[in-house]
Amino acid sequence: MRILIIGSGGREHALVWKISQSKKVKKIYCAPGNAGTSELAENINLKVDDLPGLLKFAKEKKIDLTVVGPEIPLVLGIVDEFEKAGLKIFGPCKAGAKIEGSKVFSKEFMVKYGIPTAQAGIFSKIDDALAYLDEVGAPIVVKADGLAAGKGVIVCSTKNEAVEAVNLIMKDKAFGAAGSKVVIEECLVGEEASIIAICDGETILPLASSQDHKRVFDKDKGPNTGGLGAYSPAPVVTDSLMEQIDKTVLQPFVSGMKQEGINYKGVVYAGVMVTKQGPKVLEFNARFGDPETQPIMMRLKSDLVDLLFSTIDSRLSTFSLSWDDRAAVCIVLAAGGYPDKYEKGLPITGLDKVPQLDNVMVFHAGTRLNNKNVEATFRSPETESRKIVLTNGGRVLGVTALGDGIKLAIKKAYQAVELIKFKDMHFRKDIGKKALKYLK
Ligand code: AMP
Ligand code: GLY
Repeated sequence: MRILIIGSGGREHALVWKISQSKKVKKIYCAPGNAGTSELAENINLKVDDLPGLLKFAKEKKIDLTVVGPEIPLVLGIVDEFEKAGLKIFGPCKAGAKIEGSKVFSKEFMVKYGIPTAQAGIFSKIDDALAYLDEVGAPIVVKADGLAAGKGVIVCSTKNEAVEAVNLIMKDKAFGAAGSKVVIEECLVGEEASIIAICDGETILPLASSQDHKRVFDKDKGPNTGGLGAYSPAPVVTDSLMEQIDKTVLQPFVSGMKQEGINYKGVVYAGVMVTKQGPKVLEFNARFGDPETQPIMMRLKSDLVDLLFSTIDSRLSTFSLSWDDRAAVCIVLAAGGYPDKYEKGLPITGLDKVPQLDNVMVFHAGTRLNNKNVEATFRSPETESRKIVLTNGGRVLGVTALGDGIKLAIKKAYQAVELIKFKDMHFRKDIGKKALKYLK
């Protein structure tokens, strides 16, 4: 079987790694991939939004299954295009991906189908949005309607900040057309969890729970990022909470999509805030989480290719998932300056030492291979003599470890982090700490 994976992040490296373990798979391509995926797959120089290029490639190579990592191709309708051409592809259709592509659609969907979420107002005129802020005050959350590379959600502690956020989105058009509407919603308080489930249009099967670390600094300080670490399982998601989420979020999602006439097949990622009044949905995504996928794939024992085909062929009701009981923790190593400006092209050392540790995987994100173009100042006998991995993005690596219990998994992951270096590397020192308070 030939598989194509679209994307270049840590999530995609984890998917490539897991798919490479399936006996059914002969060849994996990754478009565009990174230095890590190139060890298990053939990287193809195609951008994730180059739908015609990806379709042509999949037809030429007779790809049996395409797996879409990021949201952009889903929102652009890659699944519809591939299906029209008779190709199998994992992910929701364009109408379904709107659940992530439009915060307005998502909020209206949640309200219509009674899914618990923050109270919100939706505005297409800036004056109305500003008047609403006068009425509700702060703290408050301002969200651009469309995709904004993870920067379109602004949590505001004062009314002034909220006014600035509305101006940035609607007047300055900082996110272009994504900001022609805004959702302004109540600021929820609680602990966050990521509930990532697989849906075949009828059945929805939750994967193991996980928790992300969105803020850049320890103790959840500083600006939001794409996620600087994750662990699974998340003890905040007890069995009874999971039952409640299934009943109030996942099942209404499936029946809501059906009532909208959308055959939703793919990932349903609910970002949930566990509030005193129960779980409330902050957002839905139409794809696997990054970095949550890294620890989840380390724990998944079932064949991922079987799971993906069962979804496409609507056979999820007979699929049962099997998990490693151990905990997994992923620590993201980021470029200095991320989530703002950062340098690229810096050599990474120590990656060759990690395989000596059991149960540790380094999933690459913003990396590329290169033996040339290394700045003279970084040249050393070590970098001259072998393949060099260079930084190529903000989130660079996801060091992921399995351990007997969260405490040991954390220890092991940080031990591996110690081995890896690049200039100005930074990472959070408290990944997984929130889980420790649940230990008996
Ligand atoms: P979203 O893209 O909607 O998940 O927002 C990104 C992050 O912003 C979330 O993971 C939360 O940390 C935060 N956030 C979003 N909506 C709210 C809300 N209503 N109350 C508090 N925090 C929020
Ligand atoms: N880790 C957050 C996300 O994938 O959206």
